[in-house]
Amino acid sequence: MNPFYKSTYRTFATLLIIVVALFSGSRDASSQTILNTKSTSLLLQVEKGSRPQFVYYGARLFETDLPAALANAGKCFDAYPARLSNTAHPDALSVMMPDGGVTTDLQTESVQEGTWDGGHTLDIVCKDPLYPFFRVTLHYRSYTEEDIIEMWTDIFNSGNNNIMLHRYDSAFLPIPEGNVWMSSLQGGWADECHVYEEPLTRGTREISEHNGVRNSATAHSEVMFSLDGKPQENEGRVIGAVLCYGGNFEMRIITRYDGYHRFFAGISPRDAWYTLSKREVFTTPKVAFTYSENGLGGASRHFHRWARKYMLCHGGQPGDILLNSWEGVYMNIQEDQMEQMARDIADLGGELFVIDDGWFGSTKYPRDHDRQGLGDWEVLSQKLPNGLQNMAQRCRQAGVKFGIWIEPEMVNTQSELYEKHPDWVLNAHGRELAAGRGGTQMMLDLCNPAVQDYVVSVVDKILRQAPDIAYIKWDCNNYMRSPGSPYLKNPNHLAIEYMRGLTQVLNRIRAAYPDVAMQLCAGGGARVNWGLLPWFDEFWTSDNTDALQRLRIQWGTSFFFPAEAMACHVSASPNHQTGRIIPLKYRIDVAMTGRMGFELQPADISQEERDICRQAVSDYKTIRQTVQCGDLYRLVSPFDKKGIASLMYCSEDKKQAAFFWYRTEYYRGDHPAQVPLRGLNPDLLYKVTELNKVDGNPVSALDGKIVSGQFLMSNGFLFPEKESYQGGHNDWHSHVIRLDAIISLKK
Ligand code: GLA
Repeated sequence: MNPFYKSTYRTFATLLIIVVALFSGSRDASSQTILNTKSTSLLLQVEKGSRPQFVYYGARLFETDLPAALANAGKCFDAYPARLSNTAHPDALSVMMPDGGVTTDLQTESVQEGTWDGGHTLDIVCKDPLYPFFRVTLHYRSYTEEDIIEMWTDIFNSGNNNIMLHRYDSAFLPIPEGNVWMSSLQGGWADECHVYEEPLTRGTREISEHNGVRNSATAHSEVMFSLDGKPQENEGRVIGAVLCYGGNFEMRIITRYDGYHRFFAGISPRDAWYTLSKREVFTTPKVAFTYSENGLGGASRHFHRWARKYMLCHGGQPGDILLNSWEGVYMNIQEDQMEQMARDIADLGGELFVIDDGWFGSTKYPRDHDRQGLGDWEVLSQKLPNGLQNMAQRCRQAGVKFGIWIEPEMVNTQSELYEKHPDWVLNAHGRELAAGRGGTQMMLDLCNPAVQDYVVSVVDKILRQAPDIAYIKWDCNNYMRSPGSPYLKNPNHLAIEYMRGLTQVLNRIRAAYPDVAMQLCAGGGARVNWGLLPWFDEFWTSDNTDALQRLRIQWGTSFFFPAEAMACHVSASPNHQTGRIIPLKYRIDVAMTGRMGFELQPADISQEERDICRQAVSDYKTIRQTVQCGDLYRLVSPFDKKGIASLMYCSEDKKQAAFFWYRTEYYRGDHPAQVPLRGLNPDLLYKVTELNKVDGNPVSALDGKIVSGQFLMSNGFLFPEKESYQGGHNDWHSHVIRLDAIISLKK
């Protein structure tokens, strides 16, 4: 159709549908407000003097379908349900006004629509006519290309008296009841990010974490909802939700008789009733939502793209291949040995050497073990007699950058810092000190500005004395065991003020040192969240470096976090956490799916193993950009117990891909199923190159061949049931294959 007639026809059709809708008694389409991304839409109904209504969130709506979406919306929901009178529905906001009133009626006062570089914004200012000094602004921001919509609120007290916030969620989303399943990540130390899938049933399901600072220690503040039954990797409608907060959180899914799952996400109000003083604005953390019709994988890819472009510090710049000293030498730091390790990682082709815990302390409290020294950030002369800058220079001479471990939010009671400032630690008033690791580790009170200054000065001092430090591993091995701040007047504000204090500290550090790479660590992956990661380049995925268990841990982590940020290190065998003996190739092949590194003493490995590592580093460099900044396709889950696990990455332009395949258990006679690839361009011809070959011999019959994307996505590779390498040890087969586009089949 001629474009002019086409657009006239569409306008006419839209008008017709709106007129029909109006006369058929549907809700008024004129007050609808829509926020679109490339393939999703959020539709609200906003009228001055009425409460903003949620209408729709899902696949992108054509203009002509807006009335249908309105008509189809079924039940009406307040976009941000507050505790109303005349209803007992669950709420996102519950407050107590100065007169003791606990009901709130948020009516639209004004609406502002705008744009920003990456999409659109919508701000709805609401006011309660009974309490005109109380305003809540609902914020929405879309990321057009990434298909993400963020929601959060500002709660403002313009009056002269305090208002008590009993609950103050960031966002609310109703999901029609049906065969909806939730995927969440649960775990613990050395077993992070275990994927759990469950159908949503009637009742209340809560996912929360209340330890104050390590908010992914057990549960994660990210979930996926599969709307079409049991979660599938590549098919079905999925809504993903990510609460961008590093502190205590609560996510609730409340399902009642009325046909909807009500999803709420926000800061946990447990022990955190918040006193909103006069003229104060409380800004809730953001929740980022995505919607995909390509299963869990589609939703993950949206989050990864958003993370690389907008969330990670230095996102989109692949991380260095490094050696971290921890599992190699633990706290036995010696200058010559450190230099040897730096030379060794340089020899393997690596780019960075990191000294972990054990390099600091005072003469009285040297950090020789984990019971002392935290807080005294002086270089121990018996360990590094020539200091940090000298170490950095030695690294530079060896050909690698230098990094250092710190844990600046913590102090040991056996430290000079604690002796000087016993009032700087968190502990419940009148209670015995509740210490963590080593029986002496306490958290510093970051609510106190003097402590914030001190933590900033720790980093400042280290980076001033050694300006060549290129990388900091920031650890956090404790939590609020005994909540109480000697500084804060209101104990209910502790968890929130701590996060604010930490944010201040990180802002100051980032302003002063924008280029230093920083890793977020918390006894492994206890702080993997989008509240804190914006100050960091990456996270330590888990203290568990066992390659087999890492397959699971990294699989779960990849639901919401991109490979670029996921530190994956090759460690020694037997593994220090599980005792498992796994061949080096398998350990390498697993580490290659994230930001690859090493966590061992290279002096302890044989020349033959060294050669394998060197070859692997060189091979990894050829796929690093694709792995770290490409699109992930999860193919066979290690949680499905199919005897294998497999995943792959494709560059955004689909010109390169990296395919990974692992045996997870072996029985004679079990022939591994072929795994069709995904995400390739069917019309491109790819050259197949097997990487990390053992003895230079490929296993795949396709190695060196030119094959179309179509063939690979319909067939995949065939691997034999029994292979001759690894001394016939069939338990540990793994394959890494690179695909490079050579030519297009289409002109
Ligand atoms: C934590 C980290 C480890 C290591 C140790 C050092 O457990 O997760 O990687 O840095 O602390 O004490």
